[in-house]
Amino acid sequence: MADVKLSGVHKYYGNVHAVRGVDLTIADGEFAVLVGPSGCGKSTLLRTIAGLEDPDGGTITIAGAVVNDLRPRERNIAMVFQNYALYPYLTVSENIAFGLRARKTPEIEIRKRVSEAAEMLGIGNFLQRYPRQLSGGQRQRVAIGRAIVRKADLFLFDEPLSNLDAQLRDEMRTEIKRLHHEITTTMIYVTHDQVEAMTLADRIVLLRDGNIEQQGAPLELFEQPRTGFVAGFLGSPSINLIPATFRTNGPGAAVVFQTGGELTLPSAKARPLANMDGRDILVGIRPQHFSRAGGPLREGVVPYSATADLIQPTGTRTFTTIRIGGTDAVAELQAHDVSSHGERIDLAIDLNRVVLIDPASGLVIA
Ligand SMILES: Nc1ncnc2c1ncn2[C@@H]1O[C@H](COP(=O)(O)OP(=O)(O)OP(=O)(O)O)[C@@H](O)[C@H]1O
Ligand SMILES: [Mg+2]
Repeated sequence: MADVKLSGVHKYYGNVHAVRGVDLTIADGEFAVLVGPSGCGKSTLLRTIAGLEDPDGGTITIAGAVVNDLRPRERNIAMVFQNYALYPYLTVSENIAFGLRARKTPEIEIRKRVSEAAEMLGIGNFLQRYPRQLSGGQRQRVAIGRAIVRKADLFLFDEPLSNLDAQLRDEMRTEIKRLHHEITTTMIYVTHDQVEAMTLADRIVLLRDGNIEQQGAPLELFEQPRTGFVAGFLGSPSINLIPATFRTNGPGAAVVFQTGGELTLPSAKARPLANMDGRDILVGIRPQHFSRAGGPLREGVVPYSATADLIQPTGTRTFTTIRIGGTDAVAELQAHDVSSHGERIDLAIDLNRVVLIDPASGLVIA
C-alpha cells in the first residue's frame, strides 16, 4: 500500500515540454485516473512515476520515500500497458508466474498466488493454454494477473483496454473496478476515454498540455467544471457551446444569440453576473438538459422550438441535432421523442445547470 506525491514534476523530450510542473497527491488506496487528449502527457507522467523516464525537475514520493533515484524494479510497482506483451511460448500460468520466478519466490508460494489471481480474474480454466489460444480480453486478464501476483505497492495502467472491442472493454472495466474493491491497492490509470475515466475513478486528474487542468471526483468535475475545456472534455455527447451576448434586464438576465433569439436565465444564474451586461459569452448546454416540452415548465426551464436535423437513435435515447443561435447543437431526447428529419419539435431547456464561459479566458464564470 502506498500514497503517491508528485511535486513540481517536469519532463522534457528535447524541445517538447511534456510535463510542466505537476503537483499531485494520490491517497493510499485511491483509484486515480489521468485523462486528457492525445499528447497531453499522461503516459509520460505515468512512466515518470514508474521510473521509466527521469524527471527534469521535481520530486516523486511513494509511500513517504523519495524515489527519484530508485530504478523501476526498486519501486515495487506493477504496470499494465496497452500492448500487454505476453510470452508466446509460456502458458498462462507460466506467464503469470514469470515475475515471481525471476525474483526467486518459493514454488509453493508461486502456485498459491497464481491460483488466487486466476480465481479473481476468472481465468482458472485457461492456465495451461498458450496466449495464442486466448481471446483479447482473456489475454488482457493474464496481463493483469501477472501484475497482481506481484503484490506491488502501486498499480499503474496505461490504456490497458484500448485494444479490446467495445463489449469486452465494458466487461474488463467492470472487472478492474471490482479488482480495486478487492485488493484496495493504490491505482493510477491512464486513458483518453472520458467514459472510462468517469466510471473507474475515485478521482479524475484531467491533463491538458502537460498541466493539470482540474482534478476531483468524477461528478464534481462534470457538474462544476472550472473551464470550458473541462466542460467540453467530460460528457457524451459533448456539451453544446453556443456563442452569445450577455444582457442584464433589471434583476434578471438573458443570453442573446447572434441570430437574434434569446434565452432567459434563471435568477440564481443571473444574479452574480449583474455587471456583465454586453459581454460576449459561450453558453454551455449539455445534451441531457433538453427534453420534449409538455405541461408547465419549472423555474429555470425555458421553451425552445427547433427543427430536427440529424437523428441518431441509440436504443434508450435519441441524439437529435438542432440549430440554436446559429450553431449545431445535440439534444438527447427519449427514444421516441422524434421520428423524422425536418420534424418541428417543441423542446424545453433546463438552464439551471447551464455553464457560462468567458470566451477570452476559457474560464467558467457561472
Ligand atoms: N520519447 C519521446 N520523444 C520525444 N517526444 C515524446 C516522446 N514521448 C512523448 N513525447 C511527446 O511528449 C508529449 C506527451 O506525450 P505522451 O505520450 O505522454 O502523451 P499521452 O497523453 O500519453 O498521449 P496518448 O493519449 O496519445 O497516449 C507529446 O507531445 C509527445 O509527442
Ligand atoms: Mg499515452
